[in-house]
Amino acid sequence: MGDDHPAEVQASSSCDWPLLGLLVARLRLRPGQRLVDLGCGTGGVGLWLARAHSVHLTGIDISPVAIGLAAARRPYFLPPGRADFRVATMERTGLPDGCADGIVCIDTLGKAHSPMRALLETRRLLKPGGRMAVTTARRHSAPSPWAERAAAVGLELVAEDARPDEPAMWRRLYRLWTDHEEELRRDVGDARTDSMIREARRTLPTLDARRAFLITLRRGSDPSGEPYATA
Ligand SMILES: C[S@@+](CC[C@H](N)C(=O)[O-])C[C@H]1O[C@@H](n2cnc3c(N)ncnc32)[C@H](O)[C@@H]1O
Repeated sequence: MGDDHPAEVQASSSCDWPLLGLLVARLRLRPGQRLVDLGCGTGGVGLWLARAHSVHLTGIDISPVAIGLAAARRPYFLPPGRADFRVATMERTGLPDGCADGIVCIDTLGKAHSPMRALLETRRLLKPGGRMAVTTARRHSAPSPWAERAAAVGLELVAEDARPDEPAMWRRLYRLWTDHEEELRRDVGDARTDSMIREARRTLPTLDARRAFLITLRRGSDPSGEPYATA
């Protein structure tokens, strides 16, 4: 995928060097704090950030296979005891209230059964003052829903950083898939290839109108920490 892509991270997402830079700048983690990676997949993004910030990592993913692979990658990034990975959903992580100084959620919130419920869960997990960084995309013409969405779950909108190179990255990836369909069939089998080619054909025509962002949300320093209704 070229020089913009940190090979070590092996992300199953749009994560590139510019995004890693934005995440470091926006999360503002300090050594010894805890980062939660929601929808961590095989763990590379959270592991890279936890090493860069010298923090502890908890990775959550719905897929036991992804969690097994993430745990196996831990020794390449962090010493023993600095990361744990759990099978759970981002809507119901099972983690304790106020355990996270930072939360990252890369190309995953849109896959939640209920994105608002997942955002309420992040509000529960964040310590007062803690930040969450989440990738998102919308059509060129659509207004940002994030100030309203953040307020609805008791979080503040800190920043909405444009990722102007993100649609081109998907275009390159989808063209690689369609140009190399036969090799894909050999490497990953017909079922997986059919689904990848379907995704490429469905999504390629929408990319010209796509605008991608990194959204940073913050839990205010409210000492009461009263829960928000999850209705
Ligand atoms: C596009 S991948 C991104 C993985 C990782 N964030 C990265 O950047 O490489 C989306 C991940 O979300 C996970 N996922 C989907 N729905 C989920 C849910 N409701 N709760 C937790 N994880 C979920 C999938 O299993 C998958 O690993």
